[in-house]
Formats: sequence, C-alpha cells, structure tokens
Amino acid sequence: MAEQDLVKILESIAGYLEIEKRSGVNCFMRGKNVQKRIDLLKKIAEDVNKCKKCSLYETRKKVVFGEGNPYAKIIFLGEAPGEEEDREGKPFVGKAGKLLTQIIQALGLRRGEVYITNVLKCHPPDNRSPYSEEINACFDYLKREIEIINPRVICALGKFANLALSRKEIPLIQQHGREYLYEGIKVIPTFHPAYLLRNPQEKKSAWQDLKKVIEIVKRKSDLKSTTLIGV
Ligand code: URA
Ligand code: SF4
Repeated sequence: MAEQDLVKILESIAGYLEIEKRSGVNCFMRGKNVQKRIDLLKKIAEDVNKCKKCSLYETRKKVVFGEGNPYAKIIFLGEAPGEEEDREGKPFVGKAGKLLTQIIQALGLRRGEVYITNVLKCHPPDNRSPYSEEINACFDYLKREIEIINPRVICALGKFANLALSRKEIPLIQQHGREYLYEGIKVIPTFHPAYLLRNPQEKKSAWQDLKKVIEIVKRKSDLKSTTLIGV
C-alpha cells in the first residue's frame, strides 16, 4: 500500500475516533449522522460565543455551552454556570457538577452518554439568580439545543430550569417528580445538585425523581424494540 493511502486511512480513522470521543463513544451512535448534529450544535456554540444579548457578556470569563452526546436520550438542564464553570468554559465541573456526575453514574450512565447544559450560558456575577430578562434573552440557544438533540426526557434541575421550560413559578418542593411536557418532550423536575449539597435530606426524594427519568427512557426503548420486531 502506498504511504499516502495509509496516511489517508489513518487520518479518516482519527477523524472518526474524534467524533466518537466528542459524542460519548457509544455503540448506539453507529449508523447515525453524528457529524451533522455536531455541526449544528457547533453553529449554536459559535453564536453563543459572540452573544451580547444580555449584560452578562460584560462579566463572563468564558461562555459555557452544553456538552455531551448529540444523540443523548437525556438532557440534564441546570441554571447557569458557576465560578468554576466560568473559568473552565464547561458545564457542571464544580462541586455541584461532581454531585451531578455521581448521580449520572448511579443511574448506570456515563457523563458522555447524556447531554448537559444550562439555561444561561454565561455566569451571573456573585452566583446570583438569573433575571427573567436574561432567561428570555438566552432561551433561543437552549431551544435550538433541545430541537437538535430531541431527547426522550429532560431532567430539569432546580427552580430556574423548570421556570424556563414550564414558564410557571411553582415551588420545586411541590413540582419535583411531576412530569410535564416541553414541546412534546417529557420533563422531570428535580432538585438542583447545589441544593442537594445544602439539603442532603432531599437526596432520597431526588432519587425517586431520577428513577422516573430512567423509566421514561426504558419505556420508550421497549416500545421501539417491540415495533422493530414487528416490522
Ligand atoms: N450550577 C449550574 O446550574 N450549572 C452549572 O453548570 C454549574 C453549577
Ligand atoms: Fe448571551 Fe445568554 Fe450570555 Fe446573555 S447569558 S450574553 S443571552 S449567551
């Protein structure tokens, strides 16, 4: 084999592996147009990178776009990047992020198998709560992420994730675990991991909510395999 051909083959394998790596390396990715979704998500990330739609662009260090599997069945939706996320430019990498990672693993998944994002893509100074103008200004990016990924379920973490999707200000203590729809996609509200760190007594009820997330994914998978067998 000519050296040039070998180089070409190696380059294409390297490219393929890079895509797999970025998308969580899952066998269920095979046969899907992964690159197309990555490109669509990249386009939003580019728009976010230059965004000045609210004043948070003035104080952010790095924008924090979503990350994970573009074919994720579950989106975990947080509120806004914290200080550590602002420094690193990645969602949920601080203390709350460590708990979220543990939760994902306890559900039998890896971080790379799901998609993790926030309502706001820029860190609010002093970790203050997002203002409704900021949620509205930023919402189009989240809407586009959800449209592209089209997950089976969104796990909305905390008050602001739920406010953004449901447009209703229901206290989470009443709303958690109660499924609703966002654009036809099931949403399970639960407590934010940062809240669970401060209120560990709520971990038990959060776990009940999270089990519902997995049940939804499984329920749909079963339906799919039944249909496939029937074809
Ligand atoms: N809290 C969030 O809501 N999102 C993050 O990315 C980190 C902490
Ligand atoms: Fe733009 Fe959202 Fe950042 Fe505001 S928070 S500047 S709307 S990306």
